[in-house]
Amino acid sequence: MLTSTPTIDLVAGARPNFVKLAPVVAALRAHPALGFRVVHTGQHYDAAMSDVFFSELGLPAPDVHLEVGSGSHAVQTARILERYERHVLEALPAATVVFGDVNSTIACALAAAKIGVPVIHVEAGLRSFDRTMPEEINRILTDAVADLLLVSEPAGLANLAREGVPDSKVRHVGNVMIDSLLTHLPAARRRPTARSLGVTAEAYGFVTLHRPSNVDDPAVLGRLLTLFVRMSADLPLVFAVHPRTAAAIEAHGLGEALRRGGRGLHCVPPQPYLDALSLAAGARLIVTDSGGLQEEASVLGIPCLTLRTTTERPVTVTQGTSRLLGNDTDRIEEAFRDALAGRWPAAQTIPLWDGHAGERVAQELLAWVGRGA
Ligand code: UD1
Repeated sequence: MLTSTPTIDLVAGARPNFVKLAPVVAALRAHPALGFRVVHTGQHYDAAMSDVFFSELGLPAPDVHLEVGSGSHAVQTARILERYERHVLEALPAATVVFGDVNSTIACALAAAKIGVPVIHVEAGLRSFDRTMPEEINRILTDAVADLLLVSEPAGLANLAREGVPDSKVRHVGNVMIDSLLTHLPAARRRPTARSLGVTAEAYGFVTLHRPSNVDDPAVLGRLLTLFVRMSADLPLVFAVHPRTAAAIEAHGLGEALRRGGRGLHCVPPQPYLDALSLAAGARLIVTDSGGLQEEASVLGIPCLTLRTTTERPVTVTQGTSRLLGNDTDRIEEAFRDALAGRWPAAQTIPLWDGHAGERVAQELLAWVGRGA
């Protein structure tokens, strides 16, 4: 009698997905009874945004690569839908596992759900309650078609319960991104990343910026860049410039002001995972609009000036080190002074952000597939 190992698809497309995927792959390697394919949509494709993450995180080369590249939301989502559907029909995986809230997440969830392949969402239930964010639309829609919702923080449980999702579909597994952080932190701390940029450990700030609300409007972006120049006179800043931000700086002619910004502001390209973690871990403070970095800063215990008015990750504010400041430069500057003066609440331990979330996800996947076998 022929028996075949059930196989699931693990979908990743953009930088933060790769960091969340790695601990799940590591945990599944210990369970050969469940096979998996890694599906890379190609949403992020530059070597610095993709390949380097695969190699540093020990991920296998993707089994399927959709090579969709950049495009408007509709174009990118439609391309992923169309290309992933073909692979789902061909392989009929036992489930499609999607991560986070990027366009690849909703596109693959929708393609699978329409074919009747169960969808499992890792990092389900997060809500910023701000529907101007593309990610919020992706979160709501992905959760609406998901069959199993794996939650990273308590707010996710409350949000899903309020939306009427039955408890039987929801599990609190913790934060897979923190698994990657805890695994790689010792190596990241040994890296000379800060020194090689000419800054001293714990005597610089680490800055990232890529949300459309901060970088697409030239007036907002210009004000923020001017503020960074001013802040860098008091504390050197390492600014890892995302391609979206680099393109906006170029398009709006803001590059010159940055270049003239003085010796305290170090603009660098998007950093590989270990260097980004090294820079975050060694920073005196972090200035960011990234959801992942808010979480990482909270676990590292580093003040996080969050340039957003809302967060889908409220535990980083209530128990972590994140303070929501929007792009109000007065408030950001005041928080900067507070952080420099040590006026910042200490982080508390966040439940299930313990380095074992990947194993809990793997257990849920095994149980899910076993149930249907
Ligand atoms: C995407 C996610 C966002 C996530 C972020 C992490 C969506 C809607 N947004 O935003 O939630 O926080 O990734 O980085 O899914 N580009 C390159 N090289 C690349 C990839 C992108 O140059 O490898 C440039 C292109 O000009 C592209 C732009 O960056 O148009 C934006 O890329 P896109 O993937 O659409 O969105 P992100 O801003 O990266």
